[in-house]
Amino acid sequence: MLDTGLTGRTALITGSAQGLGAALVRAFHAEGAYVAALDLDDDANRALARALDPGGERVRPVRADLRDLDAVRGAYEAVRAWRPVEVLVNNAARPPAKTLWEVTPEEWDEVFAVNLRAVFFLTRAVAADMRDRGFGRIVNMASIAGQTPRPTGAAYGTGKAGLIALTRVFAAELAAHGVTVNTVAPAMIDTPMVRSVGPDTLAELTAQVPMGRIATPEEVARVAVFLASQESFVTGATYDVNGGALMR
Ligand SMILES: NC(=O)c1ccc[n+]([C@@H]2O[C@H](COP(=O)([O-])OP(=O)(O)OC[C@H]3O[C@@H](n4cnc5c(N)ncnc54)[C@H](O)[C@@H]3O)[C@@H](O)[C@H]2O)c1
Repeated sequence: MLDTGLTGRTALITGSAQGLGAALVRAFHAEGAYVAALDLDDDANRALARALDPGGERVRPVRADLRDLDAVRGAYEAVRAWRPVEVLVNNAARPPAKTLWEVTPEEWDEVFAVNLRAVFFLTRAVAADMRDRGFGRIVNMASIAGQTPRPTGAAYGTGKAGLIALTRVFAAELAAHGVTVNTVAPAMIDTPMVRSVGPDTLAELTAQVPMGRIATPEEVARVAVFLASQESFVTGATYDVNGGALMR
């Protein structure tokens, strides 16, 4: 089994309250890590933290709205006052809303605020501390929608393509400082975001996956844990977790 070296390390995971984020919190907790779990949905986030860590020692729920950069800064200050962050997983995202023809300026701005602007400013703050300490692992949750067109990808897919580019910029900047930065690009994962498209669309999309099913959140979380592991020579990479839906 892979020794991830995560025991006793501290991970900050965004979008932690449900779906893939909750699976990431569970996976890093199972590796023995301390987890700061950041989400807008305080009730679900607290419930997850209580269920995993009734003593409140290793999982700390943090409420913040990633659309608000002051809140993002404040949340990070609170987390670093608790423990130094060695792993950052930028997982939170707003889902694809509308087709190319339907997306409004407000929806465009919200997708970019959460999926890209918050990632940039949070990562820059966390990365500066990682660089100064000479160690860090950053994992950004992109999507196949950022690699190949999807009908609802106008804002979402463009933002995820930007996230893949942003990952490489941070990776290049931080490579000599012991900090790796990588992207995971899943296709469909069994989460509330995917269920929200409805059963017909879900069946149609599943039929396009060569492995004939969608991913479990745990399968994707395992790849994030691998990329966050202590001994890693991987940086600037995009890991496709898509059942063969895109081979490149
Ligand atoms: N579900 C999929 O099929 C799929 C496929 C490819 C990529 N992804 C990516 O995986 C990640 C997780 O997806 P998911 O399906 O678990 O999503 P989800 O919608 O189920 O969960 C997203 C979480 O982010 C939080 N969040 C949203 N806006 C926020 C804000 N402004 N401030 C703070 N928290 C906020 C939500 O409260 C929620 O807990 C996302 O980056 C998504 O783009 C998902």
